[in-house]
Amino acid sequence: IRHDPNAVGSYIADYICKRINDFAPTPEKPFVLGLPTGSSPIPTYKALVKLVKDKRLSFKNVVTFNMDEYVGLPHDHPQSYHTFMFREFFSHVDIPPSQVNILNGNAEDLIAECNAYEKKIKEYGGIELFLGGIGEDGHIAFNEPGSSLASRTRIKTLAYDTILANARFFDNDVAAVPRMALTVGVATVLDSREVVVVVTGLRKALALSKAIEEGVNHLWTLSALQLHPWALIVVDEDATSEL
Ligand code: GLP
Repeated sequence: IRHDPNAVGSYIADYICKRINDFAPTPEKPFVLGLPTGSSPIPTYKALVKLVKDKRLSFKNVVTFNMDEYVGLPHDHPQSYHTFMFREFFSHVDIPPSQVNILNGNAEDLIAECNAYEKKIKEYGGIELFLGGIGEDGHIAFNEPGSSLASRTRIKTLAYDTILANARFFDNDVAAVPRMALTVGVATVLDSREVVVVVTGLRKALALSKAIEEGVNHLWTLSALQLHPWALIVVDEDATSEL
């Protein structure tokens, strides 16, 4: 528990920095990092960018896999997760764009796109550390309530609550929010060697309490982390208000 979202961001950034530096990645053995979008990880991205500028961290030998992407939004749409990631992070660090992996929500064959993503993660030997965020309904990536805990990367219809929550990024126009997304599955996240989740703000307090104080269940998919041997949830004071 840290005091506020900025303290959470710098804690996670320092943590990831240490993990990458201890791993000492090389071109032959890169560090494979899973990444989220959303407003919660922005302080973490800012702090990571600063570590790179201060020459304490490099992403040259890091390969990334993003958690999810909307279906049907053009690549360069201001709210696509592709645009978000380059705007908030990739454009400010030394990662070669060829080492960035983001699901293509405009692929002709979406199922093949999802299967190829899983295959590529496996080819890299799996994800070393998956950084995640959660929705107000406790979803991790876009694994909405009711998702199988054995799910893999797939197409997911968004819950109406998520569409409403994300309308703030589309000028509050609910109709403009895509109805579907591609997302890594709960099992894809659980397969990672380590999972770190950022949860900040009062809006997430109920989901946090459901996920960590109640049993593992598919209605609050973050709760699946209880099954993971190496999971860390970093929260601010506000997010703890229902604990
Ligand atoms: C979307 C993303 C999630 C993210 C969530 C939270 O639903 N698919 O991966 O965790 O937003 O967003 P925010 O951090 O802005 O609350």
